[in-house]
Amino acid sequence: MGQPTNRVFSGIQPTGNLHLGNYLGAIKKFVALQDSHECIYCVVDLHAVTAQLVQDDLKNQTREIAAAFIASGIDPAKHIVFNQSQVREHAELAWLFNCVARMGWLQRMTQFKDKAGKNAQNASVGLFAYPNLMAADILLYRATHVPVGDDQKQHLELTRDIAAKFNNDFAAKISEFGHGDEGYFPITDPIIEGPATRVMSLRAGNNKMSKSEPSDMSRINLTDSADDIAKKIRKAKTDPEPLPETMDELADRPEARNLIGIYAALAEKNSQEVLTEFAGQQFGSFKPALAELAVDKLAPINAEMRKLMDDPDHVDSILADGADRARLIAQDTMKEVREIFGFLG
Ligand code: TRP
Repeated sequence: MGQPTNRVFSGIQPTGNLHLGNYLGAIKKFVALQDSHECIYCVVDLHAVTAQLVQDDLKNQTREIAAAFIASGIDPAKHIVFNQSQVREHAELAWLFNCVARMGWLQRMTQFKDKAGKNAQNASVGLFAYPNLMAADILLYRATHVPVGDDQKQHLELTRDIAAKFNNDFAAKISEFGHGDEGYFPITDPIIEGPATRVMSLRAGNNKMSKSEPSDMSRINLTDSADDIAKKIRKAKTDPEPLPETMDELADRPEARNLIGIYAALAEKNSQEVLTEFAGQQFGSFKPALAELAVDKLAPINAEMRKLMDDPDHVDSILADGADRARLIAQDTMKEVREIFGFLG
């Protein structure tokens, strides 16, 4: 089988509401890659149970991510949209990667340390092995490119280490199966660049916008009404200075920088262009412009998401069809991986 050269894989966990940070940092980029790549977008429900075992309404949370993908413009007929747990091969390859990855590699993962906190002894084994499952997600499809936020960079490096160790340790077997010098698994490239990769909280410009921050005023949810969006932007924390001419002058003004970044990403401009447009103006005039732009861009997505969520059977059938197509690729990979390991049968 030939190696794909432009296959994209990425995933989002179905835990809690999607917000503007997920949209600008991930989904909008997923949409843009569809013209140039063969894309596989996954609702990673197996990852959702690593941090908290019992999830509230996991089925609807899963549907909601799928609805957001589709409402934002991902075409599930041309590309693949599915949920991870429907393709059992993810769990199987993750087990094998538990045996490829080394303890030391996983112990270096900063996200585990952040998520487990002081209570690491009481974290699930799944939370510790989480990056191996993520590597399995990507390599099962031999994806060459993975659009992610920069907090996932370290996990992508681990994915590359796993691919390289597998290719190296099984080199003899792999060439027996006709896979030549390039190895079996690709060394996947992250796609991280782009405006507003990090959308910050509307209440504290140095913290990432997050579904776990207690105040709902800190984030714009994809399910917020136009009124909510406008209110949250109106009340967003800022400073009393007018907007300057250059980005350098925003170095110590994280809240202002964040709002400019959000405007730029929504308008598909760069931050400097936005500043040039608004230089000298107060937030009293910039905020209404931002609110109008945000409502303009998000309202159609919101409306389409609601429509899809009103028809769960339809969403389920899209996910089932995506899983059927994903499984065909996954099964081909696992057949070869089983042979490479030397399992009988
Ligand atoms: N860990 C990713 C996150 O929290 C989600 C994820 C799981 C993922 N598997 C993936 C992202 C594979 C990209 C590719 O954002």
